[in-house]
Amino acid sequence: MRPSKRLERIPPYAFAQLERKIAAKRAAGVDVISLGIGDPDRPTPALIVEAMQEAVSEPGTHQYPSNRGREDFRGAVRDFYERRFDVKLDPEREIIPAIGAKEAIFNLNLAFLDPGDYALAADPGYPVYTGGPWLAGAEPVLMALEPERGFVPDLEAIDEDVRRRTKLMYLNYPNNPTGAVVPEGFFARVVEFAQENEILVVHDNAYSEITFDGYRAPSFLATPGAKDVAVEVFSLSKGYNMTGWRCAVLVGNAEACETYWRLKTNIDSGLFEAVQLAGVAALSPDADADVASTNALYRRRRDLVCEALKGIGVDVKPPRSTIYVWAPVPEGFASSAAYCEHVLEQAGVVLSPGAIYGPAGEGWFRISLTTPDDRLLEAVQRLGALGG
Ligand SMILES: Cc1ncc(COP(=O)(O)O)c(C=O)c1O
Repeated sequence: MRPSKRLERIPPYAFAQLERKIAAKRAAGVDVISLGIGDPDRPTPALIVEAMQEAVSEPGTHQYPSNRGREDFRGAVRDFYERRFDVKLDPEREIIPAIGAKEAIFNLNLAFLDPGDYALAADPGYPVYTGGPWLAGAEPVLMALEPERGFVPDLEAIDEDVRRRTKLMYLNYPNNPTGAVVPEGFFARVVEFAQENEILVVHDNAYSEITFDGYRAPSFLATPGAKDVAVEVFSLSKGYNMTGWRCAVLVGNAEACETYWRLKTNIDSGLFEAVQLAGVAALSPDADADVASTNALYRRRRDLVCEALKGIGVDVKPPRSTIYVWAPVPEGFASSAAYCEHVLEQAGVVLSPGAIYGPAGEGWFRISLTTPDDRLLEAVQRLGALGG
């Protein structure tokens, strides 16, 4: 049996490989602590779980949902965007539920790209920004995120031929894996660039609710003119400890939302209505206190990790957002993979090598803060004992 050429073009999903490696170590009796994947360890807040319990016992939620989404879910998204980001959305035309951000990001490629088209993808970046275009038969073009530029791409460096063939551009702030937040003025420049080059911007807003030190992450759609050129994917996965629930929305440009909806009606049958009702609870102001306490937890863990890294001579800048610490590989290792391999072998701690997020991630590694405090402490002690 031969997989399709499309599938053969893409490398295996990095975290699937990592999971296999961890399983093998554990089977060999090693007490592995994984700081790899960004999957919140804390339970979903009780008010969301209770809303789900109530919704699931209601037979009206059991049938095929509409791909347009329930009116109350779309209304909750509209209210949240206005309250949180000062962005007005039309729930009839500018909000479509998604079965997680990953689904939306992948399907936007199928909706907009043809063979020969380009999609600009942040490097390092979430792997679906490259895997998605490949699976759609198109080409991802990497935009390097360099620390000297605050981890934003140099738009002026994108050449004319690339601009002509580009239909989509993926951006993500607060950023995975670098933890960077968007510098003042950058989103406005992106809107101009998209207008000049007729590009649809896809802003992946997966981490806006996880912020520290008084920082509040904006929506891309709050930028003047953004709705003419952009959609935003907002996910409940990380901010509300809901990765398993698969709850997200595509919002913004009405024509793009309609195109995405048209594609989806051919692919899936929408988001379980009970999950939509849980989403209503998550997006209500009643959940704000849960979000705040989750942020306090991650801030504490961030400080713990950054202090420990500084203690072993790793020069790390504490991020103001996300669940990740992005740090340079210590001297003496040939690559990020070599360093992470060394740490796994010698300390039983799993780190993500920066290069799995793209070539510009080489020389870096990522620590996820989604491990219970005692295990995180144990992991940083093991790293400390290992030295630089
Ligand atoms: C930048 C980014 N976008 C999207 C996702 C996926 O989110 P979801 O669980 O909503 O599919 C992740 C998950 O790690 C991510 O880091």
